[in-house]
Amino acid sequence: MQKNKNSSTRNFINLNEIDIGQLHNIMSFAHDVKKSRYGYIELLKNKSFILLFDEPSTRTRISFELAITQLGGNSIFLDPSTSQLGRGESIQDTAKVISRYVDGIIIRNASHKDLHEFANNSNISVINALTNLSHPCQIMADLMTLHEHFGTIENINVAWVGDGNNVANTWIQAAQVFGFNLKMAVPQEYKPNQDYLKKALDNNAKIVISQDINNIISDADCIITDTWMSMNDKTTNSDKKVGILERYQVNTRLFELAPKHAIFLHCLPAHRGQEVTDEVIDSPRSLVYQQAENRLHIQKGILKYCFDN
Ligand code: CP
Ligand code: NVA
Repeated sequence: MQKNKNSSTRNFINLNEIDIGQLHNIMSFAHDVKKSRYGYIELLKNKSFILLFDEPSTRTRISFELAITQLGGNSIFLDPSTSQLGRGESIQDTAKVISRYVDGIIIRNASHKDLHEFANNSNISVINALTNLSHPCQIMADLMTLHEHFGTIENINVAWVGDGNNVANTWIQAAQVFGFNLKMAVPQEYKPNQDYLKKALDNNAKIVISQDINNIISDADCIITDTWMSMNDKTTNSDKKVGILERYQVNTRLFELAPKHAIFLHCLPAHRGQEVTDEVIDSPRSLVYQQAENRLHIQKGILKYCFDN
């Protein structure tokens, strides 16, 4: 029989399910640990983790594996195609077995529904390392980067330009819980998740969605975009999608319409020449590598939230 989750076992699945004080604690720990990279070696001592990724990853995999090692834990990387999951073993059985081996699991899963099924059948902490619907670890690193640059994220103006994808959805959830201003320029055809948006607006989130790109970026502190074709994008006609999104490219002409202090963020990998040009992503106003580095530090904050409470 499946044991109930221990009361101190925490998942990290969606930002709007986590107490705002805890999210601030995660960020504050990440700032501390960035100053002292090898300073918390006891935190995950004798703790074991599995990273179960059914989609490619550079940053998320490396940053979690390193974060676990640098906090004194150990991890195993599992690829569904070379495990029994790939031969049809159920998520339920896999989750119950894995729960008996390790303390936590970090999952990159094409299906948000499957991630929930995994969490519902395990009694260990489950961390969302990206699904078709959300990417909470990424947005925490992005917010950390904004905090480093501007000294605060309160009342900051964030402008999202491009596809209404999983990363865009998570910005909506972040605006809901952190209360900053989010303006999104997205085409009518590729809007973000409407349930997430409704929930955020019902909770008084300050979110504006429009196709008027100039209006969206005119008071932006930060312009963010992402690939037009996500890993689990089900669009059948990618040429049509790219064609519609062409006017949403973040290029120098567009960037010049933003305030002079505005910075550029992108979760990476970037498709240079599509959603962003070389001139913008390589400019001094682009913080994309600092943002990528912060994945490592914020993962430590997320691990502390889940396993050291
Ligand atoms: N930004 C991000 O999640 O990158 P990876 O796909 O390389 O992990
Ligand atoms: N939206 C992108 C993010 C990659 C980190 C994707 O899902 O492919």
